[in-house]
Amino acid sequence: NCAIDPPQLPCPRVAVGSHGPLLLLLLLVEGVCVDSYKPVIIVHGIFDGPQQFQNLSRFIKKVHPGTEVTVIDLYDDLLSLQPLWKQVPDFRQSFNSIMKNAPDGVHLLCFSQGGLICRALLSTTSNHNVHTFISLSSPLAGQYGDTDYLQKVFHKTLKKNVHFICYNKFGQKVSICDYWNDPHQRRSYLRNNIFLPLLNGERPHRDMKAWRENFLQIKKLVLVGGPDDGVITPWQSSHFGFYNSSENVVEMQNQEFYLNDAFGLKTLDQRGDVVACVHSGVKHTTWHSNFTVFRNCMEKWLT
Ligand SMILES: *[C@@H]1O[C@H](CO)[C@@H](O)[C@H](O)[C@H]1NC(C)=O
Ligand SMILES: *[C@@H]1O[C@H](CO)[C@@H](O)[C@H](O)[C@H]1NC(C)=O
Ligand SMILES: *[C@@H]1O[C@H](CO)[C@@H](O)[C@H](O)[C@H]1NC(C)=O
Repeated sequence: NCAIDPPQLPCPRVAVGSHGPLLLLLLLVEGVCVDSYKPVIIVHGIFDGPQQFQNLSRFIKKVHPGTEVTVIDLYDDLLSLQPLWKQVPDFRQSFNSIMKNAPDGVHLLCFSQGGLICRALLSTTSNHNVHTFISLSSPLAGQYGDTDYLQKVFHKTLKKNVHFICYNKFGQKVSICDYWNDPHQRRSYLRNNIFLPLLNGERPHRDMKAWRENFLQIKKLVLVGGPDDGVITPWQSSHFGFYNSSENVVEMQNQEFYLNDAFGLKTLDQRGDVVACVHSGVKHTTWHSNFTVFRNCMEKWLT
């Protein structure tokens, strides 16, 4: 119900200071909407925290003055290795309290592992008011790669052996294991991974229908990622693509969870509400401080 395109018009609070009360009066007489930009909630990734998102917060406030940006300050740095089902309820508390004060809705911008935390929040929260969910280089369909991150956590373990560590009760207490998706161990993944197969609706569960409805309350899903990421493996996982059992990448539209619309992705796509944004030349830890990426993939959705 905005009479004027928000980007053309700063928030009235700004208007009062910089243009005087006359403009405010004018706005009131014209019946123009008051608050222009929805609050943005940022969820960080593995081994990082609010500090790493200062540039991104600055970008948002620069192009959309007056936006309230919150980087949720929970499970930072090494604590980000805590099991995801333990992290989700704590993130939910912050998420809920911001949503409660934002009757026009919020945007959710989630980086890397944070993208999976956000998917869990969206699926398990009824009546959330998230408008746009931006997933910034997140392993949405899982992770399977010999990367520095893997070495940091499991030392010299090769990707082909990680399933021995991850696919059991103890392994599932490490966040990475919650989205470890070994394409050669499909049965064990489905049986022993207690996180991603549930989000993806790959393992049927009681609340599937409700989760799907909750997820579908978002208006837009924006997927950002690219081939030079260096961490998300395969990088197409940032766009819901993943390896098949011969380690060839199968794109989102041919994934089983897409074809049977297990968690609403196909519905969302057919509604025209899935947006893909691919950028090459961007390394994993620089996605959130690259202004070109921000301009091309995020800015227009954060109104
Ligand atoms: C923020 O951007 C500056 C300049 O592009 C860069 O030097 C710095 O490392 C960035 N900070 C973070 C935390 O990414
Ligand atoms: C994996 O995908 C590739 C490329 O689409 C295909 O040629 C191959 O047969 C698939 N492998 C299996 C085991 O399905
Ligand atoms: C920022 O993104 C652009 C566009 O993809 C890319 O060409 C460039 O290399 C990136 N810059 C950095 C510092 O990552």
